[in-house]
Amino acid sequence: MSGKDYPKIWFGYTLPTLGDFMTDKELLLTAIKEMEKSYSPYSSCKVGAALLCKNGKVYTGTNIENAAFSPTICAERVAIFKAVSDGEREFSKIAVAGGKDGIVDGIFAPCGVCRQVLREFCSDDFQIILGENDEEYKVVTLKDLLPLSFSPDNVR
Ligand code: THU
Repeated sequence: MSGKDYPKIWFGYTLPTLGDFMTDKELLLTAIKEMEKSYSPYSSCKVGAALLCKNGKVYTGTNIENAAFSPTICAERVAIFKAVSDGEREFSKIAVAGGKDGIVDGIFAPCGVCRQVLREFCSDDFQIILGENDEEYKVVTLKDLLPLSFSPDNVR
């Protein structure tokens, strides 16, 4: 029996299993929903992210563009900065979905800057759920996306 198979009903209450507060699919659907809030008048790329903390809390983020372009911030960084500024430090996974005009048609992988920001708080085995559409997704690790990474360990 795997962790996922254990019954979650206890005295009539549904209990989440540690680390299993949300399925990958639920996290992905949360990220897709977040795309609606995107402020992207320049690229028309709507991106959504949903970050699951180890304590079960979920922080969402969407991309916010700027007329001066460089202040634009990605959905992933909005989610992680919201969480970190709320005192969270431990994360288990993030789902990311996006597409031109809000149509998810293939993966929208995190940019290099977001990968490095994730590496600040997350280890190599942190999971990234990449939505291909609202049904299909790929699960990769941070190490897959950022091998041989520069991390806080390098400056300790
Ligand atoms: N974008 C993200 O939100 N996340 C990424 O990892 C890649 C790019 C956004 C930034 C910008 O608003 C738009 O997608 C086009 O680059």
